[in-house]
Amino acid sequence: MPNRILIIVAMSAEALPTISRLSLSPLPFPVPSLPYLLHAGVHLSTSVHLATLGVSPHGADNVGTLHASVCLSHLLASAAARGAPYTHVLNAGTCGGFLARGCAVGTVVLPTSSAFHDRRIVIPGTPFEEYGVGLLPAGTEGTRGVVEAVEGHCSTGDSLDHCREDDEAMAKTEAAAKDMEFAALNTVAAMHGVPLLGVKVVTDLVDGDRPSHEEFMENLGTAAKSLQENVGKVIDALAKGE
Ligand code: ADE
Repeated sequence: MPNRILIIVAMSAEALPTISRLSLSPLPFPVPSLPYLLHAGVHLSTSVHLATLGVSPHGADNVGTLHASVCLSHLLASAAARGAPYTHVLNAGTCGGFLARGCAVGTVVLPTSSAFHDRRIVIPGTPFEEYGVGLLPAGTEGTRGVVEAVEGHCSTGDSLDHCREDDEAMAKTEAAAKDMEFAALNTVAAMHGVPLLGVKVVTDLVDGDRPSHEEFMENLGTAAKSLQENVGKVIDALAKGE
């Protein structure tokens, strides 16, 4: 079966350089009333779709676990119903990185596992705590060895900042990256039996001394260019079956 790749990127600013590098054109989203945007093209004979999460009525990009999950669920279900299921999903985006795991601003992180750091459901004697953390392995076929990167755990939550309880959870999983979508996408992809790969570029240091939002805004443009280059390498490798 030929590879059919879906790239999912939360923010359009993160995705635009990749859309133009892969010469992708707009395609209607399968449920037109939803805010998500789809682009499509063929790269080295491989079908490539790229989805972004669109913009909220507030005028903000729809970042976070809710829209990531709804968007991916619809795309995976509709591709399967068309008889053209995706073989790989790749989450490309920015992340906070941990100095303690060897990250600097600009480092590429390849997630090898994912979990949530803000789903605290501690009821002793029940499986809720483990469910909340939601630890899962991530896919690495097509990314490992293809881009120069730190490999490690990606921890997901719905806030850009982090509180003491988040820090404790991220210390337990030895997170290298902190984002707002990866664990949710990995959970949805696993339910459909499709591997989720990740290419995440560090815009800010979670265990550094600057507020995340300042560093994030400063480094978003450079990170988007890095994503274009590194996602290009991964798509080449998957298309060539490396
Ligand atoms: N994306 C980029 N930086 C982030 C951070 N510090 N936390 C969550 N998502 C991010």
